[in-house]
Parts: sequence; C-alpha cells; structure tokens
Amino acid sequence: MFELNGRVALVTGAGQGMGVGIARVLAAQGARVAVNDLIDERAKQTVGQIEAAGGEAMPAAFDVTRFGDVEAGVARVAEAFGPVEILVNNAGNAGGGPTMQLMQFREMPVTEWRRFVDINLYGPANCCKAVVDGMCESGFGRIITISSGAGQMGLPIGISLYGAGKSGAIGFQRHLALEVARSGVTVNTVSLGLMSNVGDTEAVKGLAASQPTGRLGTPEDVGHAVVYLASDEASWVTGQVLGVNGGAFLP
Ligand SMILES: NC(=O)c1ccc[n+]([C@@H]2O[C@H](COP(=O)([O-])OP(=O)(O)OC[C@H]3O[C@@H](n4cnc5c(N)ncnc54)[C@H](O)[C@@H]3O)[C@@H](O)[C@H]2O)c1
Repeated sequence: MFELNGRVALVTGAGQGMGVGIARVLAAQGARVAVNDLIDERAKQTVGQIEAAGGEAMPAAFDVTRFGDVEAGVARVAEAFGPVEILVNNAGNAGGGPTMQLMQFREMPVTEWRRFVDINLYGPANCCKAVVDGMCESGFGRIITISSGAGQMGLPIGISLYGAGKSGAIGFQRHLALEVARSGVTVNTVSLGLMSNVGDTEAVKGLAASQPTGRLGTPEDVGHAVVYLASDEASWVTGQVLGVNGGAFLP
C-alpha cells in the first residue's frame, strides 16, 4: 500500500528542515523526486542523501515566489523526469527581516508584510498554476500544501502576517480542490504543529515536554502523512486539512 511507483514528485523548499524528510520519504516509497530550494547547494545535498539511500532525485532550484522561474523549473523537471504528478508546497517561513526573527505586528514595517504572503500564499499558487493543467489532462494529480496551526488559530508570538499567508493558502486549496475534483486531482493541506527544527534551547525542551505526546514533530512525521495523501489510495480525500501536530491543536 501507498507505493508511489515512479510517480514524479516536486517538493519545494526541500533543501533543509521538513522538506528534506518529505523528499526522502517520498523517494523511499518509489517516487522520483525533484528537490526544489531557493539555494541550489541545499537542493543538491538532499538529492545526494536520496541517492545514497538508493532513491532517484534531481535538484530543481528556483524561487517559488517568481512565477516565471517556477514555470521554467517545472519545465526542466518535465524534461528530465516527466510531468509533475505530486506537488508538495513546503517552502514557507515565519520570520521576517534580515535575521528572520518573529515580529509583533505593531513593530513590523509595512514593507515586510508582502514577503510573508509572497512565500506562504503566492508560492503555492505559483506552483499549482504551473502543474495543475498537466495533472488535469493526465487524469492524476496530488497537490499537498504544508501549512501551520498558525493559519487556523490566533497566537500572540509575532506571526500575524505569516498566519495570514497560511490561512490564505488553506482557503485557496479548498477552492482549488473543488475546481479539479472531477479530474483525478486531489488538493489537501497538512497543518503542522511545533517541529523539531525550532532549536534545542532549554525553552524549546520545555515546550517539547509540554506537548500532548511529550515530543516535537520530525521531518519524517510530515513525510509519512504526505505519502498517504500522495498515494493512489487517498483518491477520495480532497479539500482537507490534516493536522500533523501530535494533538497540540484540535480545531
Ligand atoms: N518548523 C516548524 O516548526 C513549522 C511549524 C509549522 C509549519 N511549518 C511549515 O513547514 C514548512 C517547512 O518549514 P521548515 O521549518 O522546514 O523551514 P526551513 O526554513 O527550515 O526550510 C525552508 C527551506 O525553504 C527554502 N526557501 C525559502 N524561500 C524559498 C523560495 N522563495 N523558493 C524556494 N525555496 C525557498 C529555504 O532555502 C529552506 O531551505 C513551511 O511551510 C513552514 O511554514 C513549520
């Protein structure tokens, strides 16, 4: 079950963090994985890890916020591996400014706002636009967007515009799911809780201990959920938001 049998997958922002786990687990299930990142070196590192484990992958560096670059990147993937059948919109971030720190809305300059919406909403929209026609024409497609509890609930920790971008992407995915529901294409969101790459300070250790499961989520936890949604077996699951958060947030 859940074999991906040579399906072509594109995972964005997969040079580090959750995307690495997603790309590795998809490849382990038999997908051929195009590893996107803004930073080419990072994408190549993930490709190296997948190949070392006996999987098939290619680097596909481009900026998901620039539609022209996305289109060109997707064309390169199609040339090497064939049309994208599984798209995982993972690239996203919560931090702003040169230091990528969280920032309270009252302190955030207006010039910072757009970057959160650009990466967390328009990034997924750009990538969907570049692949969805091909998916509909072929009669098979899986679109999975990585979101956050911050897109479903309020938090006072300095992530207002990030939350807005993530909420926007959840709404976008719901509507797209219904537009393509009769074409064999499913569109789902995976909403994450607190993940293991947030650091290992004493504060983070305390947060981990306070989670319902007593631990933070791993890149592999995300990868396993994505594999299910990407599989043939999940063909009747669409327009959903799947919480992968260890029970930390139960809407
Ligand atoms: N880490 C968490 O605790 C957490 C919690 C909830 C949701 N999420 C979501 O999970 C996803 C992955 O998060 P992460 O913590 O692994 O992120 P990360 O910052 O560790 O890695 C993101 C990767 O995306 C790449 N990237 C950034 N901008 C890009 C662009 N414009 N085009 C292409 N690639 C780009 C970066 O170079 C980086 O390698 C994000 O969508 C994030 O919002 C993470």
